Amino acid sequence: MTSITVIGGAGYIGSVLVPALLGQGYAVTVLDNFLFNQNSLLDCCLHPNFHLERGDARDESMVKRAIAKADYIIPLAAIVGAPACKADPTAASTLNRDAIRMLLSLRSKDQRIVSPCTNSGYGIGQKSIACTEETPLNPLSLYGVTKVEAERAILDSGNGISLRLATVFGASPRMRIDLLVNDFVHRAFSDRFLVIFEGHFKRNYIHIRDVARAFLHAIANFDTMKNEPYNVGLSDANISKLELCARIKEQIPSFYYVEAEIGQDPDKRDYVVSNAKIEATGYQPQVSLDAGIAELIKVYTILRVKGYANA
Ligand SMILES: NC(=O)c1ccc[n+]([C@@H]2O[C@H](COP(=O)([O-])OP(=O)(O)OC[C@H]3O[C@@H](n4cnc5c(N)ncnc54)[C@H](O)[C@@H]3O)[C@@H](O)[C@H]2O)c1
Repeated sequence: MTSITVIGGAGYIGSVLVPALLGQGYAVTVLDNFLFNQNSLLDCCLHPNFHLERGDARDESMVKRAIAKADYIIPLAAIVGAPACKADPTAASTLNRDAIRMLLSLRSKDQRIVSPCTNSGYGIGQKSIACTEETPLNPLSLYGVTKVEAERAILDSGNGISLRLATVFGASPRMRIDLLVNDFVHRAFSDRFLVIFEGHFKRNYIHIRDVARAFLHAIANFDTMKNEPYNVGLSDANISKLELCARIKEQIPSFYYVEAEIGQDPDKRDYVVSNAKIEATGYQPQVSLDAGIAELIKVYTILRVKGYANA
């Protein structure tokens, strides 16, 4: 049986990916420190091929033990997103970059790695020219810098694949509402209004189940895909923040949004991405942006973010 170790497997992506891997018949070991006190992997615990280590991805002996039997390693543990990295730069560098270098020194060369990078590595793209995997990387934040450094180390080390993920959206048992689509739908649903800064900035998006499918695809096609980076996004969803709001308004007609005349978004990412390279390997995303928005409306019907008000 093929064994896969997912480091940081209890997070937003891992909590969807791990059940998908188990469903494909892989044995899965998760190493995670459960940073958010999350209980998102409870559904996996009965599975006989699911193994769990609670610990830090920077702890050499923990990592050695967690990867001992792995044929594939998926390192997801990170301080994720520019604001979180800015708030704790030491954690960001030691986890996002140094722990990956340590992992590379601990794994045997025949252990394969499939790792997520962020397409925010492209920073500010050229107007209307789609970023391909050949486009020079220009990360704008410590988050982007550490993720790009980790990707470089993995590809230089060999026997690895890097998936440069678009901004992920959709439901996960460890939900994140700080991702752009998830955030905008949340505001549209709960506040009914949104003030947008730099509404023309374009980004690319991908549903979380299609992210899980991309990892499964990379594992199944490892030999033909290895030692390369691949953009992973919806090719029909290279859209601006204003266009995203219009799509949300189609499903929440009472949503009112307006572009601010003064002020800036600290997040300067603005790019259009080509996903042709991974599509040429036979990968096709299956969940549209509109289907994800409809899903999120149901998610926020369930979730209520409150605590300091009576109603
Ligand atoms: N969500 C996105 O839009 C997106 C896009 C591109 C790339 N990625 C990458 O995908 C990966 C997962 O992102 P996510 O959205 O699931 O984030 P997340 O914050 O939900 O998950 C991170 C996981 O790592 C764990 N963790 C944190 N510190 C740890 C430590 N010191 N030791 C062990 N575990 C630790 C957390 O408990 C959590 O389970 C990250 O590497 C991220 O950079 C995410």
